[in-house]
Amino acid sequence: MDMTPAYNDRVVRQFTVMTVVWGIVGMLVGVLIAAQLLFPALNFDLPWLTYSRLRPLHTNAVIFAFGGSALFATSYYVVQRTSGVRLISDRLAAFTFWGWQAVIVGAVITLPLGITQSKEYAELEWPLDLLITAVWVAYAVVFFGTIVRRRIKHIFVANWFYGAFIVAVAMLHIVNNLAIPVSATKSYPIYAGAVDAMVQWWYGHNAVGFFLTAGFLGMMYYFVPKQAGRPIYSYRLSVVHFWALISVYMWAGPHHLHWTSLPEWAQSLGMVFSLILLAPSWGGMINGIMTLNGAWHKLRDDPIIRFLVVSLSFYGMSTFEGPMMSIRTVNALSHYTDWTIGHVHSGALGWVAFITIGSIYMLVPRLWNREQMYSVPAINLHFWVSTIGVVLYIASMWIAGVMQGLMWRAVNEDGTLTYSFIESIAATYPYYAVRLLGGVLFFAGMLIMGWNVWRTIRPLAERAPAAAAAAQSA
Ligand code: HEM
Ligand code: HEM
Repeated sequence: MDMTPAYNDRVVRQFTVMTVVWGIVGMLVGVLIAAQLLFPALNFDLPWLTYSRLRPLHTNAVIFAFGGSALFATSYYVVQRTSGVRLISDRLAAFTFWGWQAVIVGAVITLPLGITQSKEYAELEWPLDLLITAVWVAYAVVFFGTIVRRRIKHIFVANWFYGAFIVAVAMLHIVNNLAIPVSATKSYPIYAGAVDAMVQWWYGHNAVGFFLTAGFLGMMYYFVPKQAGRPIYSYRLSVVHFWALISVYMWAGPHHLHWTSLPEWAQSLGMVFSLILLAPSWGGMINGIMTLNGAWHKLRDDPIIRFLVVSLSFYGMSTFEGPMMSIRTVNALSHYTDWTIGHVHSGALGWVAFITIGSIYMLVPRLWNREQMYSVPAINLHFWVSTIGVVLYIASMWIAGVMQGLMWRAVNEDGTLTYSFIESIAATYPYYAVRLLGGVLFFAGMLIMGWNVWRTIRPLAERAPAAAAAAQSA
């Protein structure tokens, strides 16, 4: 008799645990760099603790380690359940887990050492890029291979989004990292000048569109209906949402290069596509939120639903804000300011981290065969500290950003600048303090989550003596 369990949940459990671990690590670095902007002495005069090296460590850790592990975990979980088959290869799946962790450890070592390609979100040097490529090919084989072998004819919509994420990231990673190595730790891109900039931001924007959005929409399409106990509001809308989103995102990259030497027609193209992008983004958000129709009462007593619904609200907010910031005249004010940082984190904390946290709280009891999380009040507490944390973070950065933009463009009657640059930094300090407080709260929420997940998954045998003692004293 075949004794292999129906699904490979081992790899899902491994990625789930690492999502929480890397979330804590990445956000701790976020808190540290937020503190450094207030107290520069916190780099202790050590080169590997300087802001310039820790900032890419933060972005890599939260996007690729935390977000990436969450995407691996949930996509493997979802593709097996919705296809009715086990992953096609346990070995390849294990390779994606260990390979991805090796990439992250490589990042944790090389970035603080200052080894970098200097391309934002693609800082890792060529040996690590090759490892990423190998892991990604294995990921694609496991994911699409499982879909090919599926027992359920219909391909569930979440898999369309996960699939698009896998294909697009493969393409982006390869094209943007084409480089000529000159040593084991240094390479030069094959592109030059404005072309290099355009390739980089074609990559950068689609990293947002496919890594930070499409994959997490896959999560939304599975976990929101599951937790709400309702079918997706409109299946037809989800199909339109999918095709519109993936075809429009690809063209919006030039909005990162407004007012640069990129040809103006390309900038305008990026702006127009960004404005159009509002429609599919909101279509997706509405589809998620309306799924709760008839289940709204769950918001009152289910903290997991709260995480999922609030994440959709932030998704709606950041995808409204993004198109506005892509208008060239608005961008003239917002670019280079902390407004961009506020926008980034309303997407990254409000949308990406919230949908991940909600999904992980759903997954953990199912993966370890527990009835529910160890402490539901702790989930509730996590929800409130992180919600207050995001609001403090983004509100302070919005105000700071608009203030900086206005100060930089203020001119006196004789045409000289009203403010020196350092005056704008001094004026930003109070907002940096509020952002730090917001970050500390969000990070504290992750620690609560770490504790709760650990208490839920530790072997039941370890719990027994305490339970027995409690029973005795009762
Ligand atoms: C319709 C959707 C969106 C549009 C049109 C959009 C547009 C923009 C614009 C115009 C900028 C500023 C570029 C600059 O001045 O340098 C920006 C920056 C950014 N956005 Fe969005 N955004 C959208 C959604 C999102 C979401 C959902 C996230 C996160 C999950 C996100 C993450 C980012 C990041 C990380 C940056 C900073 C890039 C950098 O300079 O390093 N965006 N976005
Ligand atoms: C405790 C939570 C967090 C804190 C305190 C934090 C703090 C920071 C700080 C201080 C910066 C640098 C801003 C600057 O250069 O002016 C930054 C950048 C960034 N963070 Fe976070 N962060 C947190 C969580 C996250 C998460 C969960 C994500 C993604 C899922 C994320 C994505 C990013 C990105 C993409 C940037 C670069 C933005 C840009 O270049 O425009 N952060 N973060």
